[in-house]
Amino acid sequence: MKKKLIAGNWKMNGNTASNAALLQALVSASASLSGGASGGASGGASWACRAAVCVPAVYLAQARALVQGTALELGAQDVSAHAAGAYTGEVSAEMLQDLGCRLVIVGHSERRQYHGETDALVAAKAQKALAAGITPIVCVGETLAEHEAGATEDVVKRQLAAVIHTNGHCISEIVVAYEPVWAIGTGKTASPEMAQQVHAVLRAQLRAATPNADRVHILYGGSMNAANAAQLLSQPDVDGGLVGGASLKAPDFLSIIAAAG
Ligand code: 13P
Repeated sequence: MKKKLIAGNWKMNGNTASNAALLQALVSASASLSGGASGGASGGASWACRAAVCVPAVYLAQARALVQGTALELGAQDVSAHAAGAYTGEVSAEMLQDLGCRLVIVGHSERRQYHGETDALVAAKAQKALAAGITPIVCVGETLAEHEAGATEDVVKRQLAAVIHTNGHCISEIVVAYEPVWAIGTGKTASPEMAQQVHAVLRAQLRAATPNADRVHILYGGSMNAANAAQLLSQPDVDGGLVGGASLKAPDFLSIIAAAG
């Protein structure tokens, strides 16, 4: 069985001092589980699940220095759909790779909503990440209005279809995150049954596209916290979490990691 994946999305939060404190707390918790402050000779993996932090791009170098050789994986929050060149302000997949990123979030609802990102652009970003050897965490999810109109399945299938269409046989290399927009930062969570229902729809869509669909992690995101994580993560198609607010507090994030064990 694949290990669950718990990824923290710090969004636009942090500074050098708070990042160092948070990462040191996470790393030392992992090291103490593996039997020593140094994390053992290999810096060994200590958690039963995979754990990652997706930090603001300007702090990737700082975070890399603190997590290198530990169980904590490094990720980014966005990537350019272009390879290189005259795209002021953009960060390419190769740059992320150069900085040690293994993961990058693409198509977060905040980028779709505030930056006008379309399904096609999100698919192109996923493609650039894959080409650089970085796993894209492709976010899908319906708004409150779409939820209330009963359009949830249509929306998430349309969003994932664009990524499948563009990425073809590489699709088993992505991670999908189901993040109902109405649950993000609101304290409202999809019930475990509701999350499972949507995850099962996404799994079926992946199965139609690849024989390796069961390898794909489908994460739940949206007010996941220390209290509700275990129940959400117990669902058969919930392979982990994409955690916003609770990933900024070491004890909360560590509780969610423990719940995924
Ligand atoms: P919250 O956990 O703060 O609701 O955020 C979820 C999210 O958007 C993760 O990408």
